[in-house]
Amino acid sequence: MAQRWVQRWDVQQERYVPDREERFRVVIDVVGWAVARAGDRGGVARIVDLGCGPGSLSARLARVFPTAEIVGIDADPLLLGLAAGSSGGVRLVHADLTDPAWPGATGLDAPWDAAVSSTALHWLAPDALAGLYSTVAGRLRAGGVFVDADNRALDEPVMADLARHVRSARALRAGVTDNEDWHSWWDGVLADPDLAPLVDARSAAAIAHGGENGLTVGQQVGMLRAAGFSAVAPVWQSGDDHVLAAVR
Ligand SMILES: C[S@@+](CC[C@H](N)C(=O)[O-])C[C@H]1O[C@@H](n2cnc3c(N)ncnc32)[C@H](O)[C@@H]1O
Repeated sequence: MAQRWVQRWDVQQERYVPDREERFRVVIDVVGWAVARAGDRGGVARIVDLGCGPGSLSARLARVFPTAEIVGIDADPLLLGLAAGSSGGVRLVHADLTDPAWPGATGLDAPWDAAVSSTALHWLAPDALAGLYSTVAGRLRAGGVFVDADNRALDEPVMADLARHVRSARALRAGVTDNEDWHSWWDGVLADPDLAPLVDARSAAAIAHGGENGLTVGQQVGMLRAAGFSAVAPVWQSGDDHVLAAVR
């Protein structure tokens, strides 16, 4: 049942991120680069997925890095419940990324090799995101990577408009504009009687979302440098959809 809901989630997310599978693959390539460079360090690679939701990226990482320790963090018990039923080889942790204590909940010793995220951190207010960047920078080993796939505005307003237009055109070409939308997916999942305990857990643990933080690529690059990353750049882009990589 969880797998069915996660497959439906993936289709729903592709409505907004038409190149989501390629974008996941690029995130995995960045992690692979960092893990290979750390080869002589020995030991098991440690990877944290920030805002893992129902585990789409975590599950793909676990398939590519079967010996790695992979921890998915999310504040939503329902999405974590779906991840638990569909993402073998991943440890799932309920935590709020705006709570500075969250790294303790991962159970992972530092240093980590990689922290990844997809379509999640645009929900964090600028101060909370800056705090998260510092926390992650403090736990990654030298040469470890933070890699975040998300939509983010371009710095000049006219380019931000153009990039949104390019993404919409891409969505039309990819044929995803009729995919189930976010609200329909949530209506369905919340009404599924088999998921009632997870729905109740979600109601009891709701966190407030203030909407998109509106930070541009340039602003996020600056924040990552200020947090202690030595090199930061987008490594993939389609319209306003970016994979931003930062090397510790
Ligand atoms: C659009 S979903 C993306 C999920 C998954 N990464 C994917 O690509 O399918 C955004 C996720 O971020 C999580 N999230 C948002 N704010 C959070 C916070 N403060 N702490 C932990 N998770 C958070 C939400 O619960 C949700 O699972």
